[in-house]
Amino acid sequence: MHSLTTEKTALENVKNTTIHGVSISMSAQSSRLLTLNFNTDIIQRFLQQTEQWPIQALEYKSLLRFRIAKILDDLCGNQLQSFLLKTMLTRTQGALLIQAEGIDHVEQSDEMVKLATAIAHLIGRSNFDSMSGQYYARFVVKDVDNSDSYLRQPHRVLELHNDGTYVDETTDYVMMMKIDEQNMQGGDSILLHLDDWEQLDTYFRHPLARRTMRWAAPPSKNTTQEVFHSVFDVDTHGRPVMRYIDQFAQPKDFTEGNWLSDLSDSLEGSQHKLFIPVPVGSILLINNLFWLHGRDRFTSHPELRRELMRQRGYFNAPQNRLS
Ligand SMILES: [Fe+2]
Repeated sequence: MHSLTTEKTALENVKNTTIHGVSISMSAQSSRLLTLNFNTDIIQRFLQQTEQWPIQALEYKSLLRFRIAKILDDLCGNQLQSFLLKTMLTRTQGALLIQAEGIDHVEQSDEMVKLATAIAHLIGRSNFDSMSGQYYARFVVKDVDNSDSYLRQPHRVLELHNDGTYVDETTDYVMMMKIDEQNMQGGDSILLHLDDWEQLDTYFRHPLARRTMRWAAPPSKNTTQEVFHSVFDVDTHGRPVMRYIDQFAQPKDFTEGNWLSDLSDSLEGSQHKLFIPVPVGSILLINNLFWLHGRDRFTSHPELRRELMRQRGYFNAPQNRLS
């Protein structure tokens, strides 16, 4: 549960950290979620020093993603990388809302992708995204949608889930960046830390918790693969971690189907969900193993437009691997 110890750890982490060009604070919503702001000077210098590489260069040469990561860390006095990793791997935290002064308009979308890429490649490496055919995916939500999953559908809640449930790659982190938002009301990101979920223990200790189940995605995800894994596992410290998404679970029978439905209802009914507004140009970065994420519904508007970028990948640290 969310305790005084959590707040103390968060406060100490904030208090004891000084990163050149960066300010860190606790978010208004939770001490588990820290906010990190890059000042204008750092961002301008980062963009100058990486100007020679357009996004296409980062797409073609994956080594350059690590080069721009190093440039950003150098600019921050080589204190950024360890802070990011530590925060992401700390069980009581594992979530950051990252903002950059002066990066707040859709016309700067290439700059946004570049900054996000640098951050992701300081903590690990982003996986190939089969939906886009790149290491990142940009996607637009409009008022009307004909797709085959709830990802792009504005008028529905996107229920709490983990990412990477229907692929074989390790998905330690999920990074979501808001690139554009017009005529939008609602649509906050929703987060739930696994340890804040009231019924975690009940579900984690259930006989079905560790049963291997089948997971498969609809055609738009461009993967015909089926993946088999249980909903729960444990990390190297024996603490629960989760790989769950309601839309892509393929329960084999009545028992599995109803257990998963109950689990979904229990997650949605949690009183500890956090509602996080993510402004244009901001990045929400979470540990995917012990944070669930979703999205609140929007209010309909004919001119509604929202564009997001995501990157998902694995950490450059072995201690968080599933056992
Ligand atoms: Fe997701």
